[in-house]
Amino acid sequence: METEIVKIKDKEFKPYLTPAQINDIIEDLARRINRDYAGKNPLLVAILNGAFIFAADLVKKLSFPCRISLIKVSSYAGTESTQNVCELIGLQESIKDEDVIIIEDIVDTGVTMSHLLERLRKDQPRSLAICSLLFKPEKFTKDYTIDYIGKSIPNEFVVGYGFDYDGYGRNLPGIYQLKD
Ligand code: PRP
Repeated sequence: METEIVKIKDKEFKPYLTPAQINDIIEDLARRINRDYAGKNPLLVAILNGAFIFAADLVKKLSFPCRISLIKVSSYAGTESTQNVCELIGLQESIKDEDVIIIEDIVDTGVTMSHLLERLRKDQPRSLAICSLLFKPEKFTKDYTIDYIGKSIPNEFVVGYGFDYDGYGRNLPGIYQLKD
């Protein structure tokens, strides 16, 4: 286990998952996805910024032909108080009648994913699945199913492997959590 403490701006972080442990988690996810999508050609939709490293490592382990689209999501409250508007930036492909797998780095409260699901369903994909590297069950406020969860974690702030603290730390090869 790595022991080094990483300092980013005003905070210190301690090792949580090593690159080898992350690799094992992704191997396991890929095994399950490869089994479920054998003979299909799903479109993977990865959510920027956080998921860029996870998505890159995951797709290398997939054994079926697939396309990948990297998109940004911008959500805001619409004019009606109950209405949320979710804009997808960068989705070029039509997802109508496609098998779509959303690739996220983390589902926390679940609000971002909920907006995204609602938005993508309007385009009538054949199927829509969610794959998230990390999941915080204590914070989750929604009731949809997350089809592929790499690891459920406690409610701790994490950085590294795509996760940032104020924009920094995404390039760390391991995942770290707040020291105290
Ligand atoms: C993170 C993460 C998810 C979202 C999860 O993105 O990548 O998209 O938060 O949180 P929720 O379940 O509470 O909605 P963030 O807004 O930090 O942007 P980033 O991916 O660019 O780091």
